Amino acid sequence: MIRFFETLHYEKTDRLLDYGCGFGRFYPFFGSRTDYYGIDISQSMIDECVRRFPENAGKFTVGEGEELPFADNSFDKIICFGVFDACYQESALSQMLRVCKEGGTILITGKNTRYHTNDEQAYIAEEAARGKGHPNYFTDVSDMEAQLKPYVTFKQRRYYAYRGDFANDRYTEVMPERFYEWALVLEKKQHVDVTFEKFADAYSDTWKAKTNEASMCDLG
Ligand SMILES: C[S@@+](CC[C@H](N)C(=O)[O-])C[C@H]1O[C@@H](n2cnc3c(N)ncnc32)[C@H](O)[C@@H]1O
Repeated sequence: MIRFFETLHYEKTDRLLDYGCGFGRFYPFFGSRTDYYGIDISQSMIDECVRRFPENAGKFTVGEGEELPFADNSFDKIICFGVFDACYQESALSQMLRVCKEGGTILITGKNTRYHTNDEQAYIAEEAARGKGHPNYFTDVSDMEAQLKPYVTFKQRRYYAYRGDFANDRYTEVMPERFYEWALVLEKKQHVDVTFEKFADAYSDTWKAKTNEASMCDLG
């Protein structure tokens, strides 16, 4: 993913928000290039960030991505990597747009609701996440992009067909009918308060269709 991050241009003065920063995995990369801030819902993750990177202690915050404790238009860059699945996505996206400056950049990754029916690994991962009780939301990317269109310019679009393609950097830039993961780089056009209609669900369309098919077979 560092290769992906390198496709963006950074200024030392850029205020960058690492949204769902975890234990600070990306701090070594962004911390030397930008004015770095990290937020995470987990106190223990933030404690770990502070322990590992005491020089940036004041800029690691515990908080919810759906209610960011930052002013409107306050970040040049927002990186939401591997986190969107765990969020209430409509509120999370609206908050990212709120705190991003006009002309600022938002990078988001997530999972699509219509993945391939033969993507067994994706199906297993979905069931496993549910089994653990982890929040795990799937995005109707087509719907989300349509809702975003008035407010952003799409700078990069990446669609990864199967589970595993992300790690192998195998993607298309035109949205296919079905795909598993996605990554978007958005540039905010102008400031507006946006409320999104529902575009995410805790059950993927693929999982729902398969389960429905299985129960029809049981019936018949
Ligand atoms: C899979 S980890 C990814 C961490 C980091 N972005 C990385 O790639 O190394 C997801 C992180 O998102 C955090 N998280 C989950 N839901 C969140 C929310 N609603 N607001 C803020 N952080 C959240 C979790 O605590 C966890 O640290």
